[in-house]
Amino acid sequence: MNNQSVSRRGFLQTSAGFLAGSAAMIEAYKSWAAEAAPAAAGAPDDRPFKVGLIGCGSQARLNLMPAALRVPGWKFTAVCDVLPARAQEANKIAGGQAKIYDDWRVLLKEADMDAVMIVTPLKFHKEMVEEAFKCGRHVFCEKTMAYDIPSCKAMLKAQMAAGKILQIGHHLRYHPLYHFAKGHYIDKGLLGKINNITCQWNRNGTWRKPAEPMQGVDFKKWGYETEDEVLNWRLYRKYSGGLMTELASHQLDIMNWFMEDKMPEAIVGVGKIDNDDSKMGANLPKRDIFDNVHLIYEYPDGIQLTYQSITTNSFSPFGEAFEIIQGEKGTLIMAHLSKLCGLFFLEPGVQEQLWMPAAHREPLNSPNVIHKEHKAGIVLNGTPSPGTRLEKVAGMDIVDLVDTATASLKKATYEIELTGFKQSVLDKLNPFCDGMVGLKSAVPALLGLEAMEKKIRLEVPKDILSLA
Ligand SMILES: NC(=O)c1ccc[n+]([C@@H]2O[C@H](COP(=O)([O-])OP(=O)(O)OC[C@H]3O[C@@H](n4cnc5c(N)ncnc54)[C@H](O)[C@@H]3O)[C@@H](O)[C@H]2O)c1
Repeated sequence: MNNQSVSRRGFLQTSAGFLAGSAAMIEAYKSWAAEAAPAAAGAPDDRPFKVGLIGCGSQARLNLMPAALRVPGWKFTAVCDVLPARAQEANKIAGGQAKIYDDWRVLLKEADMDAVMIVTPLKFHKEMVEEAFKCGRHVFCEKTMAYDIPSCKAMLKAQMAAGKILQIGHHLRYHPLYHFAKGHYIDKGLLGKINNITCQWNRNGTWRKPAEPMQGVDFKKWGYETEDEVLNWRLYRKYSGGLMTELASHQLDIMNWFMEDKMPEAIVGVGKIDNDDSKMGANLPKRDIFDNVHLIYEYPDGIQLTYQSITTNSFSPFGEAFEIIQGEKGTLIMAHLSKLCGLFFLEPGVQEQLWMPAAHREPLNSPNVIHKEHKAGIVLNGTPSPGTRLEKVAGMDIVDLVDTATASLKKATYEIELTGFKQSVLDKLNPFCDGMVGLKSAVPALLGLEAMEKKIRLEVPKDILSLA
């Protein structure tokens, strides 16, 4: 699943149908793809890559920056945050060489950079991305793509008009587990007819961030009404989609990919609020966003997807987050945050396939095997065996990315994701997780939220992806 080969097939095949009226853009991508010289196999790509960062919060400083700085040649030349302490901290992480901005518009206009990363609250993605394209910048924008579906489409149109790269931060698209699971279980039809999918992401935490000193910060200038909104934007519906855009969108994105980009036909769901903010401190405003969600999605071909995410109990048989795909012949369990990573169980009586020794087998008495009562089947750890040559992710061989003995990653998924972004920008290749993927992943997340808020069985319009 080479990001470079995806660039040609991915953009031209998956997007062409939707992008009616964008022939010029498709032609532009064709010529980029034709010009692109694939990196020499095995050669480290240490070409310099200068990046500006807007939004220096948790995701930027804890996950993206450390991973980016492990990508050879990567340098942060500019950082921006409305909170000066965070911008200064980001600059420290960057090695103290970045120019610090408080105004993102100025950074976009004048920073010396090959691309910009937008890692701000959901509500601001659209205007920042649109402005970045106006300024002729390539863009990495964190997930979820945007606050609502029209905003996602506006961002795609801006990208097409600018002819620049847009990558959306659904980093699980770059996780070798999912590439292996799709290529070797789903695409090979090992599960038989799929009827049920269950996804869960449970945590135990208030989701509230503690107050920080904000003297001198003109938060109103940046679109916020209170200090708490700057820090805790996730708890306010006017800035965020809550669990649906923070957690569910990751798993719905992977399931979209596994279902060949089918969109749901209908959605029902119930959301509620479990956390009582008034018990967390004097005069704290109450959140107005669901922190407990349960949904059922009806997909074409009789596939039903059940989704659950809660914030007051983290119990899970597979570690915080998991996806279970149940077919008539077998069950695939993926749990990217857990040590066991991926498991496959054959249904009783189903024949083992010849290729299966390519995957790691767990003995039935392994502590990783939870469903020991499933004795009639075999259990495979969903990671490749050493020596198995497989697809590539962002130009890197899956086998080289996974420690097959322990099923852990040798390179963090963010590093793989950002290696892909650098390649896309410098070689003018469409990213594996491009704006169209961002839109398709936003649809089930945002419409799921709408179904819960309106308390309806929401029928998804057939032309939901149309850009017309
Ligand atoms: N891929 C993932 O797994 C993942 C994980 C966490 C967050 N995210 C995404 O990353 C984005 C940011 O989330 P976070 O957890 O870092 O939030 P955060 O609140 O910790 O950080 C956001 C930062 O943006 C800054 N900011 C807000 N408005 C700004 C403006 N107008 N100009 C400049 N800076 C501004 C804030 O001061 C803050 O430092 C969100 O889209 C979120 O969904 C992705």
